[in-house]
Amino acid sequence: MSSTIIVSNRLPINISIEQDKIIYQQSIGGLATGLKSFHEDENSLWVGWNGLNTEEVPEALEKTITDELKTKYNCAPVLLTQDDIENYYLGFCNKTIWPLFHYFQNTTVFDPHLWESYKLVNQKFYNTLIKLIKKGDTVWIHDYQLFLLPQLLREYDSTLTIGFFLHIPFPSYELFRQLPWREEILWGLTGSDLIGFHTFDYARHFISSIRRILSLDAKGQNFFYKDRTILVDVFPMGIDYDKFSTAINNKDIQHANIEYAVKTRGNQVVLSVDRLDYTKGIPERLKAVDLFYTNNPNYLEKVTFIMIVAPSRADVDTYMSLLKEIEELVSHTNGKHGTIGWTPIMFFYKPFPFSELVSLYNLADVLLVTPLRDGMNLVAKEYIASRPDKLGTLILSETAGAASELGEALIVNPNDLEMISQQLKVALEMPKREQIERNTILHKRLKRYNIFFWASEFMRKLQSIHLRHTTIKSILLANKEESKFLSDYKKASKRLLFFDYDGTLVQFNNSPLKAVPDAELKQYLTHLSTDPKNCLSVVSGRQKDFLEEHFGPYNVNLIANHGLSFKEPNKDWIETEIVHNEWQSEIRPIMQLFTDNTPGSFIEEKTFSLAWHYRRCDPDLSSLRLNELRETLLDLTGTMNLSIMDGNKVLEIKDSSVNKGKGIQPLLIKNSSVDFVMAIGDDHTDEDMFQILDETDYSIKIGTGKTSAKFHLPDAASFRSLLGKMIK
Ligand code: UDP
Ligand code: G6P
Repeated sequence: MSSTIIVSNRLPINISIEQDKIIYQQSIGGLATGLKSFHEDENSLWVGWNGLNTEEVPEALEKTITDELKTKYNCAPVLLTQDDIENYYLGFCNKTIWPLFHYFQNTTVFDPHLWESYKLVNQKFYNTLIKLIKKGDTVWIHDYQLFLLPQLLREYDSTLTIGFFLHIPFPSYELFRQLPWREEILWGLTGSDLIGFHTFDYARHFISSIRRILSLDAKGQNFFYKDRTILVDVFPMGIDYDKFSTAINNKDIQHANIEYAVKTRGNQVVLSVDRLDYTKGIPERLKAVDLFYTNNPNYLEKVTFIMIVAPSRADVDTYMSLLKEIEELVSHTNGKHGTIGWTPIMFFYKPFPFSELVSLYNLADVLLVTPLRDGMNLVAKEYIASRPDKLGTLILSETAGAASELGEALIVNPNDLEMISQQLKVALEMPKREQIERNTILHKRLKRYNIFFWASEFMRKLQSIHLRHTTIKSILLANKEESKFLSDYKKASKRLLFFDYDGTLVQFNNSPLKAVPDAELKQYLTHLSTDPKNCLSVVSGRQKDFLEEHFGPYNVNLIANHGLSFKEPNKDWIETEIVHNEWQSEIRPIMQLFTDNTPGSFIEEKTFSLAWHYRRCDPDLSSLRLNELRETLLDLTGTMNLSIMDGNKVLEIKDSSVNKGKGIQPLLIKNSSVDFVMAIGDDHTDEDMFQILDETDYSIKIGTGKTSAKFHLPDAASFRSLLGKMIK
């Protein structure tokens, strides 16, 4: 039976060892607390780090820990050393990615040594996982600590269903591009079938980076890599609504709630709950609270602020200096506004268990959540859900992912202290009827889009995109199919081979006009073209001169201008059709206009066509211009015998009577008795070749997308390796 495997850096259970005793504690942080309910419900296996370093675990306890994690919690540990913890976890994860992705570029550390450790630990996760996964399993990878894992697993088993979810913001391209390892990170993620984000903005930023940094094509929410379409989608993480909304029925929680009310003297209570983190805007919040008491002396002794900060990443310097700053601000405000019987801010630096949190959520008149940046912020959702009375007011920062869902909260700018102080007053004075009205809408949303709905939506889309991959009509030319291809090739006594040039014999680079055959390709061509059993043709949209310059020395046929011009070895060029090109003088000025308005684009003048190249342009601008240009040309060419073709980052307009299928037809007729025919190409001009081949021939498309070819290969590099095998 296939199963679901959750993978995250931190397990939902954190282990520590005190005097040879194993202590199991719930982990803190949205990923662990949020996913826990889904994990328990689904009976999935959760793989991750258990919070220990291997050096501190006595050998005698190692097996007990692994066994208990499995039997009690359905978890499997990944073992990290002290060095891994320092350089991967505290280092690359929390000194590089965490600050950069939360827009704290000034404190981001770029250190190649930390990056090496990050790669190594992703490999450790991989090594643990491949011992646990079975064919047909679904692997759901979580968060920024494991960006490289999807691709490692994809290489291990191309049929695995792999989902990835990012729990933190994905920053804008301008910020992400600062990372020296930006490409490796994006390539790592391309192993996924589905990549999920909390908000549309994060997804949009990610796609923008994919297009700009990896130059991959994207259409809407999909991008294309090798033979796969990868879906990018938005899934705002929910909470276990029922668990929170019914918790107050528990007698112990009710008692604690009453006890807290006595301790706070029946005052109105403003609450905040965070992990210790500089992204949470805690100092700014404290300053705003101080301002609130200064501006509203009538609230002195009437409002108590409870601040809970759960310890986190204590070994990272910035966290410790933040704690110091918070303590100073708390004592400043308490010293300034406090009285003998009243402390304005009750500050706790320790983790609170679920039951105490729910009591406090029920006590608080206001929850003040003001992160400078936050992927989602589940605390905001927990507060609303915990209140079956639908009372209480949420003040929420606009830069928390949750703000895009919880519009009925009072939304604030976390840097605007005056605004926070004013909204605090509004919240404390909000009539009960208004609180209920606002919260009723929020409850509806949280109840419906809860953690189970969230996970099932992710899984549903993951399975459907994966199914799409496995049902692509053309067959991947690998394994059994590749062996059959090679054996047919070797057995054949006469072979016809048609190779497209750009994107097939050579990879695209940023300047398509400069892509010329390299030494390896030349060696393969020499081999293939001197084999007397082969009749090899290069079939390209390029012009005659280009093909002659680079392929003239070989014993190959040249088919240029998309099939219009034909040349056998040691013979002259002939034109297979009579075509006119007077239309060019009409079309060229229009293309020129678009070129002027699109920096980086240029026109390639061919004898019988005009091509507008936009590979080096800003992808957003060029996709806008491309649509405009296509429409303008369609209008203009309606009555002419011209066709407009989308190539790989090029729009080409040519006489309709010319195509590559027609170009290779004479050779197919002349050599009708051959026993092996193969045509390979990467864009839709090659489809004309595929369509005129027989069912038994080898038509091969490079890359993803709709095709009439029988087979496909992921990319030009895989064709290279196939060529290497053909000549052996
Ligand atoms: N949490 C907790 N005890 C604490 C503080 C926080 O259990 O003392 C939990 C809280 O209930 C929430 C999670 O930790 O589920 C914090 O998630 P959030 O998304 O708000 O922030 P993150 O820590 O993921 O940045
Ligand atoms: C955030 C991150 C999680 C992380 C959690 C706690 O929620 O998205 O990946 O687990 O913080 O941080 P920690 O470093 O203790 O795991």
